[in-house]
Amino acid sequence: MIINGPNLNLLGTREPDTYGNKSFETYFSELQFKFQKTELSYYQSNVEGELINQLHEADKEFDGIVLNAAAYTHTSIGLADAVKGIKTPVVEVHISNTHSREEFRHKSYIAPNAKGVILGFGLMGYDLAIQSFLNEK
Ligand code: DQA
Repeated sequence: MIINGPNLNLLGTREPDTYGNKSFETYFSELQFKFQKTELSYYQSNVEGELINQLHEADKEFDGIVLNAAAYTHTSIGLADAVKGIKTPVVEVHISNTHSREEFRHKSYIAPNAKGVILGFGLMGYDLAIQSFLNEK
């Protein structure tokens, strides 16, 4: 399951120099086409508690979670605790290379409990994260 955090519903129009021109819906269709044998699901919310609820739900239903918590990555102890508290492994993804940006983006509360972190490869990071789960099998 792919879970996207705040403002990622604006992908395609939001800061295209940083995040590109493609909407996530378009990209998600491409992922579904590429990984036809894998059940993929996508959820986005701008609300911290809803993202936490979705992590709890995904824990019951999916073998892997790809999480781009967006700005909450750098602020949310609640999301970090949720990632720590569930059993399903979480791969943290960022479209941009957060380490090449403002200092406040360098800190991730998610990363210590993530299985791995992929950043700076644009939307392809989601593809790589899915592959990381499939290659285990
Ligand atoms: C982001 C990076 C975050 O710092 C930012 O707040 C986002 C997107 C990324 O995918 O590059 O909203 O998570």
